[in-house]
Amino acid sequence: MSRGTPTSRSLTRVKSTSAGGVSGYTESYPVDGIPENSGRFVVRGGARLAGDVVLAGAKNSALKLMAASLLTPEPCVISRVPRITDVFTMVEVLRSLGVAVDFEGDELRIAAGDGLSDCAPYELVRTMRASIVVMGPMVARLGRATIAMPGGCNIGPRRIDFHLRGLEKLGARVEIEHGFIKLSCDRLRGAVVPLDYPSVGATENLLMAATAAEGETVIENAAREPEIVDLAEYLSSMGACIEGAGTSSVHVQGGRPLHGTQHQVIADRIEAGTYLIAGAVGAGDVTVHGLEPHHLELFLTKLHLMGVEIQEGKHSMRASRSGPLRPVDISTLPHPGFPTDLQAQVMVLLSLADGTSIVTENVFENRFVVVDELNRLGAGITTSGHHAVVTGPRALTGTVVEAPDLRGGAALVIAGLVAEGSTEIRGAHHIDRGYEGFADKLTALGANVTRVQADETPLARTTGASARTLR
Ligand code: UD1
Repeated sequence: MSRGTPTSRSLTRVKSTSAGGVSGYTESYPVDGIPENSGRFVVRGGARLAGDVVLAGAKNSALKLMAASLLTPEPCVISRVPRITDVFTMVEVLRSLGVAVDFEGDELRIAAGDGLSDCAPYELVRTMRASIVVMGPMVARLGRATIAMPGGCNIGPRRIDFHLRGLEKLGARVEIEHGFIKLSCDRLRGAVVPLDYPSVGATENLLMAATAAEGETVIENAAREPEIVDLAEYLSSMGACIEGAGTSSVHVQGGRPLHGTQHQVIADRIEAGTYLIAGAVGAGDVTVHGLEPHHLELFLTKLHLMGVEIQEGKHSMRASRSGPLRPVDISTLPHPGFPTDLQAQVMVLLSLADGTSIVTENVFENRFVVVDELNRLGAGITTSGHHAVVTGPRALTGTVVEAPDLRGGAALVIAGLVAEGSTEIRGAHHIDRGYEGFADKLTALGANVTRVQADETPLARTTGASARTLR
């Protein structure tokens, strides 16, 4: 994640002057990088969490629906969009391409009229890897696209070779020079595209490009995440013809004209899992609302095996605990496997279980970056390659820690909920990327959590200082 100088545009309400012609006032996000001193979360441990959380829309879906809106010149309206910095970054990416974007409450209105730019700038793409999903729709709509090579979370090299090979199969020419990817084509043509691995981003880029390709495209070994299904439903509501989304073989009959649409983003299953774990660590009782429980099936099974009682409603899930936690082994895998985006958070829960658990990370390299910080809070985790051995039960104690990435940051906040004394989690911008109102939602459940802005008085660094002192 890149960093820069703090800017007064950060998360403030400003009158937009972007080329996209935005109406009204709207939230803006710094285009010149995220301030290094981005603020912190301060958690006073020991509260038992209880109550209800209304989930925001899924980050990993909203970003792709926004990109898909490039496929039509007509206005698209997307609701239940989370107000998180990754979404603000994508708003800026679209505006930099000449798209009109209006973001009021949780509703985005996007109009990618005529005269779009074909170049997504480095200053934006470097701050968020997910920006590369504009590649497929741009080449589909314009026949060309120039996109900076992406940056992103600090979780391994995160290649994009599957995206590029797939787009080549559809007839795009790909050149990489001076840190930019240049794509061009006269006409995209449908093809059978087998993926080496069910990559979420590659499946999405190809799905969007295929809507403009002449004839049939078949994406084989496609990702099966609920967010892929949401994107396919969005594209279908724009007039695309797609079958098999949510399975390993997705068929697209391309070349149909796409029109404007309205759509509600699915709820965020990773946000749901995060709050269920936050409740479970302190033997609490938390219900999340808005989600299809089958989006989190294996995760809920693992929680149950650990001794957490799970009750599933039609669109809700309740997790409560009164007894001790048991160890379980976990292997992250593409959906419907255990989500890698909940691996860091669940390690906190496993640290409290009586015994040894083995966590195997199969999706990303370097995704145990939070382990050293969890160990500073008193966890007993050792890693070897893509395995982590978590030994419990451990009594955690608060101190100052640094969020290494989005999900690792959330895990540290959760650890702070059960740590004795106070925990200060620096690098709050990582958490702001993906959790809407994290401190407010936790506070509503009874937690003692504060989001301190960068320019507020530096916090006491004394371990065990009172919450009053730390505020
Ligand atoms: C998406 C999610 C992320 C989640 C991940 C896996 C978004 C914005 N992000 O990321 O939160 O953790 O899915 O569920 O939706 N790979 C290659 N070559 C490629 C593409 C991927 O080698 O061309 C590798 C990656 O390095 C990684 C693995 O495949 O090791 C999975 O990546 P992928 O499924 O593409 O994840 P993202 O779409 O980046």
